[in-house]
Amino acid sequence: LANPQWGGRFAEGPSAIMRAINASIGFDRKLWRQDIRGSLAHAAMLRHVGILSAEDEAAIRRGLEDIARGIEAGDFPWDEGLEDVHMNIEARLTEAIGEAGKRLHTARSRNDQVALDLRLWVRDAIDGLAGQVEAVMRALVARAEEHAATVMPGFTHLQPAQPVTLGHHLLAYVEMLARDRGRFRDCRARLDECPLGAAALAGTSFPIDRHMTAAALGFAGGPMRNSLDAVAARDFAAEFLFACAMCATHLSRFAEEVVLWTNPYFGFVRLSDAFTTGSSIMPQKRNPDAAELVRGKTGRITGALVGLLTVLKGLALAYFKDLQEDKEGVFDAAENLALCLAAVEGMVRDMRPDAARLAQAAGAGFSTATDLADWLVRALRMPFRDAHHVTGRLVAMAEAKGCDLAGLSLAEMRSVEPRITDDVFSVLTVAASVASRTSYGGTAPANVARMAAEWKERLA
Ligand code: ARG
Repeated sequence: LANPQWGGRFAEGPSAIMRAINASIGFDRKLWRQDIRGSLAHAAMLRHVGILSAEDEAAIRRGLEDIARGIEAGDFPWDEGLEDVHMNIEARLTEAIGEAGKRLHTARSRNDQVALDLRLWVRDAIDGLAGQVEAVMRALVARAEEHAATVMPGFTHLQPAQPVTLGHHLLAYVEMLARDRGRFRDCRARLDECPLGAAALAGTSFPIDRHMTAAALGFAGGPMRNSLDAVAARDFAAEFLFACAMCATHLSRFAEEVVLWTNPYFGFVRLSDAFTTGSSIMPQKRNPDAAELVRGKTGRITGALVGLLTVLKGLALAYFKDLQEDKEGVFDAAENLALCLAAVEGMVRDMRPDAARLAQAAGAGFSTATDLADWLVRALRMPFRDAHHVTGRLVAMAEAKGCDLAGLSLAEMRSVEPRITDDVFSVLTVAASVASRTSYGGTAPANVARMAAEWKERLA
């Protein structure tokens, strides 16, 4: 049978394979709320400008509200033969209210309709995700406050570098997530303009009021200025996916640290049973699966971004069915990022740092060697390059002796640099090292406590 929505010039219906490749109802039904919101605004506007009678508009409104209740209740007859969410809802409306239902699509096309629906959906998704990002930030700040002075090894190249505090380390992720939140906000502000009324691509000859629908749908930026752009643009979705991918990447780096830190060879933190899984064969196992899945899911989220950019790159203006491929990646990325954010918030609140083990690790690997070199610069006015060299020789000496730097005697140190005094030992402890890092943004516990308090206030 020819399609009731566009079958006028068609004698036959599509082949089964055509139907299967064409149908998007399996995933775009997720847009039903946005689709109905858009149709209600469109119908109200059509009535306002005299295109629809008051009775027809009222019938459409009641019909759509009815359909919304039906979908909510789970008894809507989704039909793959009707391709997508737009045609499913419109067909059902016409079935329910007759003639008036067929008037709804005046001065509108599925091209501007779907562009509108996806924008509305992404805008709602951003509000949810940005709130979740803040929840993770709050959890990190709370733990950072608690551990402002808990020392741990700082790494570069995953080699012991200089001691830092755990609070400082956690606040680094707060900074990343703050920028992620900013990216979501920027994306939201840029996508906040309305494509509805662009119709298929060229606008319409009907006297519609696009400012009215844009305002009714809460688009701060008003209607989009160019009808071709309105139906063809998906940069808002790509930008959203970049914000998702960047945020997921930050979570993934944290997840990688959880995997390392919970490894018994590190032993930095312990996750409770709530965030750990066992093995079906090895009874001793405590696996950080949630962290691994956060890291793993980042792959598909980044994949969604690359997928959409790839769909867009060869498209001339304006609409092509290729654009139907924009949705699944967006839905999947949003859904999985929401899971990742919840899992990271949970692990941050759950994890129990082992302060003694962290302190021991913080002192290992000659981690205060830079402090020694700095002392030589300060106390002996030695140029830093020379101080670096002298310290290197002292590290080699300690390594050969099998002790740390503080384990060398003053006489041994003087055999390398005769001007060294007893005072040098005061800078070789981990506590002294972190306490000395008072430069703005540095890891000194006083800095960290102040920064945690600042974030707490900002997030309150
Ligand atoms: N399901 C379609 C999509 O997601 C709706 C727009 C269809 N427009 C068209 N001219 N066939 O893109």
